[in-house]
This record gives sequence, C-alpha cells and structure tokens, in this order.
Amino acid sequence: MPSISEVKKHDNANDCWVIVNNKIYDVTEFLPEHPGGQKIILKFAGKDCTKKFEQIHPPDTLDKYLAPEKYLGEVEQNSDEEDEGEEEEEEELDEEEKQRLELIERKPPLSQIYNLNDFEYVASKVMEKQAWAYYSSGCDDEITLRENHFAYQRIFFKPRVLRNVTNIDFSTEILGFKSSVPFYVTATALGKLGHPDGEKCLTRACFKENVIQMVPTLSSCSFQEIVDERNKEKDQTQFFQLYVNSDRKITQKIVENCEKNNIKALFITVDAPQLGRREKDMRSKYTLDASNIQNDVEEDEGIDRSQGAARAISSFIDTGLNWEDIKWFKKITKLPIILKGIQCVDDALLAIEYGVEGIVLSNHGGRQLEFARSSIEVLADLMPILKQKKLDKKIEIFIDGGVRRASDILKAIALGAKGVGIGRPFLYAMSAYGDDGVVKAMRILKDELTMNMRLLGVNTVGELNENYLDLLNLHNRFSSGDQLFQQVYEPLKLPAFKPKL
Ligand SMILES: Cc1cc2nc3c(=O)[nH]c(=O)nc-3n(C[C@H](O)[C@H](O)[C@H](O)COP(=O)(O)O)c2cc1C
Repeated sequence: MPSISEVKKHDNANDCWVIVNNKIYDVTEFLPEHPGGQKIILKFAGKDCTKKFEQIHPPDTLDKYLAPEKYLGEVEQNSDEEDEGEEEEEEELDEEEKQRLELIERKPPLSQIYNLNDFEYVASKVMEKQAWAYYSSGCDDEITLRENHFAYQRIFFKPRVLRNVTNIDFSTEILGFKSSVPFYVTATALGKLGHPDGEKCLTRACFKENVIQMVPTLSSCSFQEIVDERNKEKDQTQFFQLYVNSDRKITQKIVENCEKNNIKALFITVDAPQLGRREKDMRSKYTLDASNIQNDVEEDEGIDRSQGAARAISSFIDTGLNWEDIKWFKKITKLPIILKGIQCVDDALLAIEYGVEGIVLSNHGGRQLEFARSSIEVLADLMPILKQKKLDKKIEIFIDGGVRRASDILKAIALGAKGVGIGRPFLYAMSAYGDDGVVKAMRILKDELTMNMRLLGVNTVGELNENYLDLLNLHNRFSSGDQLFQQVYEPLKLPAFKPKL
C-alpha cells in the first residue's frame, strides 16, 4: 500500500500516478492515449483526481480499460498527510472563465427559449469551453455538419386545406414500441460534460415526455446507473447504441447485459471504424501558456497527440467489422438489430439482405466522413427504390442529423422515415437548463408538430407522404442559410499566436 507521499513522487509525464476513489493507478503509458488529452491528467499527476474524474467517466472506467497491473493498490490508511488533489479548485480563473460564470448567473429564463437554436446559443455561452467544443464539433471543415441542417431548407411543403384538423395525434410506434412522438433521443457520448447527472437527466426527461432514449456505449454514467434511472413501473423504453469491440467476448457480454436489463433494441454503429478529425475539439484541448511553449519541440517530432487521442477513443472499436458479423449478431441475440450510420442506397439494400430490423441513415451528426451526404437526401433517393422493389415495408428506416424543427421531422416522415433521431439539441438543453431544459425542448417540438400538422392538413403522421413535399431543389446543394442558424453556428478558429513572454 503506497502512502500519499510515495504517490506524490510520481508527478510527471515519464512517471505518472493518480488516485481515484482511494485507489492508486499508474497511467504513464496511457497518457498519450487519453481521449481528453494528457494535459488534464498531468495536472493531477501524483495527486487525487477523483472529483474531476467522476465529472466525466463512469466509476468503473479505469478497472475496465487499464491493464490489471496498472492498479497499484489502495492509499495507505491513517496517513496524516494532506493530499493536494483539490488544489485545482483554488486556481485563479482566467478572464474567459470569469465571464462564463457571470453569464451562468444571467442566463435567459427558460420562458424566453422559443426554439432549439435558442438552447444552442445559451449552451455556447455557459458550457465549459472543452465540453462545448466536444459537443458542437464536426469533422474537417464541418461542411457535412452544416449541410445536415441546410438540406432540410431545400424541401418545401405542399399543404392541403379545408380539412378538419381539430384533433392532431403525432404519436407513433418505433420498432413496435409506443412513443408519444416520431422522434427519439439518439446516443451521444459523455453526457456528464454538459451536466453532473449526464445521461440520467435525459432518461428522466424521456420518461416525463414519453420519448424513447438510446443509451450510448460511451456514456459518462455507467450503463447500470442509466437503466436504473428508468421508470420501472411503466417499463420505460430504452434502446442501446453499440460500438463493436474487437474482442467479441466483451461485445457478447454487453449484449447479454442489455437483454438482462430489458433494453428493447440494439443500434450497432457502423460509421465509426475510426473517429473523424474534429478540429474544434482538438484545438480546445490545447491551452496556450508558457509551459506549452517548451513542449513545442516534442510536438514537432512527429508526435501528433490529438490524432492519438482520436485513435484512442476508437481503438477498441473493431475496424474489421463487416457484413458477415451481422450473422453472428443475429445468432447471439433476439433483440431487434438496427444498423446506425448507413449512408447510401446500396448499403441499405445490403442491410435488408442481411435481415436486420432497421437502419438509421446517419453521418454521425457530421462528425465522421466529411462530404458524406445529408441523411434526408439519402432517404429521398432510397424510398422510391425500396418501393419499386417492394421492400419499403421490410425494415424500419430512421434518420438523424441536423433536425432542429418539427418541420424537419415531418419532412423526414413524409419521405418514409419511421422516426427521427435528435442529438445535440437535447445535449444543449440539458447543459444549459438540466431536466427542465430537456423537457422544454421536447415540448417545443410537440407544439411545433401540432401547428405544422394542422397547417399541412393532416391529423396523424401516418397520413404524411411525399405528395406533401416539393423536392425539386433537394439535390441542388446550395443554400443561403438562415439567419438564426448563422448566429449560433460557431465558426472554426485559426491557430492562436503564442502569448508574449
Ligand atoms: C457529442 C456527440 C457525441 C456522439 N456520440 C456518439 C456515440 O457515442 N455513438 C454514436 O453512434 N453516435 C454518436 N453521436 C452521433 C449521434 O448519435 C447522432 O448521429 C447525431 O448527433 C445526430 O446529429 P445532431 O446532433 O445534429 O442531431 C454523437 C454525436 C454528438 C454530437
């Protein structure tokens, strides 16, 4: 059992120990692989980092991902020495951070939030810099990220009038499970970056509003914490998003655990054999101060830490995953299998051939392949072909990416989607206003659904079809963009110059 003074000696990049929950770990070799960058770990080298660690990671992360020999034992009890782990709290705040804390005090009241873009704006001001960068970033020049949103603006409606639209019902079934709305909360990693309760906050809001939640593999709360937060009496529906591990035994265990915990469907992510290059996120992890300047030599020796981080978070994901594996999944589970991240008609047809229950047309919210097309455009290509081949009833089709208004949802449903996944808007609502924010975001979408369906002349989502849409311009990728979106969209930054010494 090492003592605190022993731990304190291992305080640098070549020899780095940390304490989490009274347990000591040697993280020296893990430093270059840490998805959040090594700087944050080095801040706690030789110290207790429990508080910071638990803000982001599920409690069992280190025991799960570090080799067993990296656990060095518990801190020696009865040690009179004070640990300096919490010193960080007393650090002097920089101007940017002072301004952020002041803005949190002056946050607009929830009553002043009228649409999902409003949540994004407030979140961009009140979230911690790195958390905002992680949530908001897209890959490369963020062209697909923006296109996801703009594509919806190239579709116009052809409404019908003089119909009795007194009763509006937008409830639906998703994979046979009742949902009050034709949208669901899609899987997004690291919920605690935005809110101390992380994914549990989304679980509670989903229950209140009868919306289905997809639980991510890379959640901040542990899987068990999220399923335990569910309302058991009402059998609240949750799906699970699966990153497939190269070690299939681990994957099988995760799937069995999903079944045991009454998860209703398995969404296998197929668009992320390696994580995309998200530059906003990468840049936010590098803070310019004098101590960084001397590190520049090391950086120039070809050690690209940011790339290493991207690889690290995806390093357990099997790059060898292929269509034949789908047969294995069908053997090991009776859960419905849905492939998340299909991006073209040919793969959608293959998915049907391999007998999955559904697909999500998705480009991962513009975070993976730059110049992947928007899902709504792929959907418009796909449906006529499926109809022609009489395959349109064979599987359920979902789409996600860039959905910010109920009008976007209705366009997707009219084109043939069974439901729509929404990611960032709920993260932003949660980060800025917690449970109340997420509930409000869902209610805003419900209000918009009611109004738009009345004005379109439909009472139920089942009545929608492509006759309600003008698709003439959809494939013509030009958009002047909208004002509201332009205001909240944060442009990518250029490299910062070093401070004066
Ligand atoms: C911060 C963040 C984290 C994400 N993490 C995951 C993930 O762990 N697994 C996954 O399959 N998709 C992940 N996604 C992609 C979402 O499931 C979804 O495809 C995307 O957010 C939809 O776009 P939207 O954010 O514009 O709604 C993530 C997206 C964001 C923004």
